[in-house]
Amino acid sequence: MNETIGVLQLINKQNTYGEILSFDIFDEESTKALASQASVAIVNSRLIHELEESFELFIATIAKAINTRSDHTGEHVRKVSKIANMIAKAIHKSDSGLYKDVYYTEEDLNQIHMAAQIHDVGKISTAEYIMEKSKKLETIFDRIELIDERIEILKRDISIKYLEKELDALKNQESLPAELHKEKEKELTVLDDIKIFLHEINFGSEYLEDDKISKLQMLAKRTYQINGESVQFLSEDELKNLSIRRGTLNDEERKIIHKHADITLEIVNAINFPKRLKQVPDIASNHHEKLDGTGYPRQLNADQLTLEDRIMILADMFEALSTSNRSYRSANSMTEIAAILKDFIDMGHMDKDLVKFFFESGIYREYAQSELSPEQQDIVEFSTTSD
Ligand SMILES: [Fe+2]
Ligand SMILES: [Fe+2]
Repeated sequence: MNETIGVLQLINKQNTYGEILSFDIFDEESTKALASQASVAIVNSRLIHELEESFELFIATIAKAINTRSDHTGEHVRKVSKIANMIAKAIHKSDSGLYKDVYYTEEDLNQIHMAAQIHDVGKISTAEYIMEKSKKLETIFDRIELIDERIEILKRDISIKYLEKELDALKNQESLPAELHKEKEKELTVLDDIKIFLHEINFGSEYLEDDKISKLQMLAKRTYQINGESVQFLSEDELKNLSIRRGTLNDEERKIIHKHADITLEIVNAINFPKRLKQVPDIASNHHEKLDGTGYPRQLNADQLTLEDRIMILADMFEALSTSNRSYRSANSMTEIAAILKDFIDMGHMDKDLVKFFFESGIYREYAQSELSPEQQDIVEFSTTSD
């Protein structure tokens, strides 16, 4: 070893009258002992610092692993961290209202940041096509393409059918019935309409009403000929997925997505967080919990969810609602997001005071101006039903 890690300098030894004396052998020995103690203290504090650094690096690496799997998740994590930080800082600064006595140190803010970094780490186990599923028929590709091809086959069958009829008429030297062309066009138009209908439904942007489900069931029964065999127009799985009422995920896929919160919980619980970061596991794994106990993975309730947990819940939800990565529909405006969050409050899912603070303090706008499109920078007058 023999590494110089510091210098201890003693100068001007004095007696009780302030007279300068020379150092003796006893001074030398006791100074050596002191220096040895000091070096142990320095080495220890360095080790602790290094350990802290490598721990934070370890967490950042876990976060990076999940972020590199998908750009979407990477961006989501960055934005959730930013929103949570903005809320926590605004709470710290507020000198009136509900949060006037809440203060956050740099360490507290670091815990929130770290929790945001790893909150979706459980998505490491979620199949990519489910995580990114943006259409009802999507698996590793959008299966609407297969249906389009089927429609093409059906249209070709119709054309062939009418060509054969024309051929027969020609052979028999009969004149073509005038309505034949019209009938053909009508049949082709029906197929074009079916195509438009299925494409619209595949987007999953609107709630699927009963009449559309019945129409899908009728369509599924339709058949077409392949190699002389009659095949159903829609497979069972295609019908199941197209019949999803809201969004693009079916029940099994939704369960798989929900599972990421369990995995996050398992991962963070397996890590021995130091005392100064003891809140990180809870803040990270509680981001899908709801105040009324209907969330996941642990069905915690209002008494069990801290203000920091609630900040993460709001940041995660607001980011998901404001993001514009789903290309088929325009991103929500701030007014639309406020309305959705109000519904969540009314259903007992979210913290009314915190959401109110988020809008009244203008954090939403500050965030929208830095991260969202100009159309999403509208001003919200926030009030809840119980105000
Ligand atoms: Fe999540
Ligand atoms: Fe998230």
